[in-house]
Amino acid sequence: MNPADDLARLRDEYEDRKRRFAGRDLYSWFNQAHLFAIHQRQRGVLGILKQNGFTDLAERSILEVGCGAGGVLTEYLGFGARPENLHGVDLLLDRLHLAGQILPGSGMINADGQTLPYPSRTFDLVLQSTALSSVLDSTIRHKICFEMARVLKPDGMIIWYDFWLNPANPQTRGIRPAEIRSLFPNCTFQFRKITLAPPLARRVVPISWGLALLLEGFRVLNTHYLVAIRPKNESKL
Ligand SMILES: C[S@@+](CC[C@H](N)C(=O)[O-])C[C@H]1O[C@@H](n2cnc3c(N)ncnc32)[C@H](O)[C@@H]1O
Repeated sequence: MNPADDLARLRDEYEDRKRRFAGRDLYSWFNQAHLFAIHQRQRGVLGILKQNGFTDLAERSILEVGCGAGGVLTEYLGFGARPENLHGVDLLLDRLHLAGQILPGSGMINADGQTLPYPSRTFDLVLQSTALSSVLDSTIRHKICFEMARVLKPDGMIIWYDFWLNPANPQTRGIRPAEIRSLFPNCTFQFRKITLAPPLARRVVPISWGLALLLEGFRVLNTHYLVAIRPKNESKL
């Protein structure tokens, strides 16, 4: 696919999503299954932050590529980050406006992740959460990931959360570990398979949160990878 076509497709898809999801609570915190997925992701993220020594986020600069309406960045306030150290870029202006409203003191820029408007080695943490899977074109994926690595400090960490499988949505393409490795050469990786398959979670969580926890422990039922990605050799980035 021509990269320009892929960006146009993405814009159309998000316009269409507004119509498809209007009046539905799939991504509401009041939806039990969604709340379960958020809690499990947060537990996983806090685990890898701690494991990698990022327990005090007050002075850490954090960028999310494809931040959408800012929901994930907002969670970092609860983890101890300061609003002025939070930054987000997104292709879609209307989503970015929402992010700016909930994070008024943070830096939101309407930009394409393929050309991030920051100097190299700026951020301690660079996040991407289900943004890359919405990009179908491999060249664009590579360019975005190159940029994520470029703006990361040599001792920083990329936190990746994305699905490897989503057969229900042809407007996305899952990303498996081999591809993640190829997107970030000269890096080390800690992979964790998480997130109970959403169709299953929507059935099980309202009946039993405990059963959902048990089922999430079966890796075959997980749809996402949470990955800590760190530069292997400082001089190569
Ligand atoms: C599924 S949403 C996820 C939003 C947010 N990360 C979250 O988890 O709530 C994917 C976002 O990635 C953005 N995106 C996709 N390709 C992008 C690109 N090339 N540059 C910047 N943002 C992009 C989309 O506009 C969309 O807002």
